[in-house]
Amino acid sequence: MAKKIIVANWKMKLSVEESLRLASLVDLGISNKKNEVIVCPDFLSLPLIGVSLGATNFSLGAQDSAVEEKAAATGEVSASNLKELGAEYVILGHSERRLRQCEDDNVLKLKIQTALKAGLKVIFCVGESLSEREAGRASSFIKKQLRNSLKSLALKKSTDIIIAYEPIWAIGSGKTIDPLEANKMAGIIEGEAEKILGKKIKVLYGGSVDVKNSSDFLKQKNISGLLVGGASLKAEEFIAICNN
Ligand code: PGA
Repeated sequence: MAKKIIVANWKMKLSVEESLRLASLVDLGISNKKNEVIVCPDFLSLPLIGVSLGATNFSLGAQDSAVEEKAAATGEVSASNLKELGAEYVILGHSERRLRQCEDDNVLKLKIQTALKAGLKVIFCVGESLSEREAGRASSFIKKQLRNSLKSLALKKSTDIIIAYEPIWAIGSGKTIDPLEANKMAGIIEGEAEKILGKKIKVLYGGSVDVKNSSDFLKQKNISGLLVGGASLKAEEFIAICNN
């Protein structure tokens, strides 16, 4: 079976010390390199994990990067500085940022362009709310998110973008979508992304993934991996997910 991509999104849940401890446990636990693992710590822990700890069995990703390359933008963090300090990936469009920081499709389009230009690969999150799903509009809503943020993007390689399908109502809620429905949505996303970008893009599933349900998602044909939040904070559980 082809290697899957397992992404850990630690959000703002750990101290720097806890991040370093968890990173070294994960690094040890996945030394068989069964799947490709990307760990996304907070901005401050990222260079310490990459440079000081020298973790080698996973790649590093940031949880956000700025719209501009360089600007009078107090408090923002540039994609190129993240790259300089060891990040290979950046998560953009996570629903928590869409909601809390009011990031819309247009802002995300600019962020994606800037991150790619800096040489980062983008993990772009899309997903519908419960009301969109209940109204039968989940797929049209997501297609619009994809079109608005990816249209006319010149992508050099198909691996420069990964799309994470994360139904908002499944994030941190303990409620997961039926793996067959997630597979159907991932297929729709893959088809739409190919129409827009002219390339075959990998699609991950995220939202209340844990050690028990992870294999049900990973065996789906259209799902190339997982974006894991809560369960990525527990070393043993996350290592078990990575070693699926
Ligand atoms: P969760 O988070 O696994 O805790 O639901 C996923 C995410 O927010 O990316």
